[in-house]
Amino acid sequence: MTGHWALYQDTLLPRQDAKTDIEDRGYQFGDGVYEVIRVYSGELFLAEAHAKRMEKSLRELSISFPDCSERVIKGAQLLVEAEGIDDGIVYLQITRGAAPRVHQFPSKDTVPVFTGTAGPLPRSLELMGQGITVLLLPDIRWLRNDIKSLNLLGAVLSKQRAKEKGCYEAILERNGIMTEGSSSNLFIVKDGTLITHPANNLILNGITRQEIIKLATTRNIPVQEVPFTIEEFFRSDEAFICGTTTEIMPITQIKTLDSPDAVRSSALASGTPGPITRKLQDLFSDLVTRCGGGS
Ligand code: PDD
Repeated sequence: MTGHWALYQDTLLPRQDAKTDIEDRGYQFGDGVYEVIRVYSGELFLAEAHAKRMEKSLRELSISFPDCSERVIKGAQLLVEAEGIDDGIVYLQITRGAAPRVHQFPSKDTVPVFTGTAGPLPRSLELMGQGITVLLLPDIRWLRNDIKSLNLLGAVLSKQRAKEKGCYEAILERNGIMTEGSSSNLFIVKDGTLITHPANNLILNGITRQEIIKLATTRNIPVQEVPFTIEEFFRSDEAFICGTTTEIMPITQIKTLDSPDAVRSSALASGTPGPITRKLQDLFSDLVTRCGGGS
């Protein structure tokens, strides 16, 4: 993000004045957590849920950060106001702090480092309308994807691979089971039922995912949080990815790699966004408009 401001330990600084210690554990080990919060029409979207998840991620890593929720929301608001964001995102991270580089936790007086930035991001309405192509890849990430940690190399390599193959997102498979996207959750629709991987250690329990499950349930669309196979994904009636930045993005085309250079492409179902995906997109847009006054 190329904003003018940065949050540093709860305070706004001109971006060029915000500096990190070279021995910050976030920088050296990826030892920290982050959140991305959406902004619609200048309002934070589902900020409490993001703040609570940040608290959970910190707890899982035994990083002590008092008053997390209040500080996260306050910090995000400061950034939105300073940058004058209309539709955009806020990025916030908390590391275990700076200390001499040894793997084990540093001394108790090490202070966590809380930083953030914000920038504009228009809604991808065109792509949401037409659908996307995804690349199917093995899930090479660690086994605690429920923690929103700064360790994102598995996601970085997968997303880069997807980009090189002309795809919007990499969707990941572990032992024949579809888990999620490199930075999104994955849903399929089969015979009118919405199916998504259970929220266990193998996926991030997305805030958008949770909202979609709520929206579907209130509209009597059946939802199953159960593992599904690669074959079930290919045979699904509809599929989409979702997340804070992507919202609900229909999958219309899947690419697979027979070898690093041999790409095979196939349409998902009819190759156009399906009716339940469209319905959920409408419901989600209503929510955006109600909560954020968004476009
Ligand atoms: N990514 N799964 C993974 C692996 C993610 O990185 C994300 C979000 C999601 C969706 O979660 P949510 O609905 O809470 O945004 C699922 C963020 C946006 C990112 O890394 O930029």
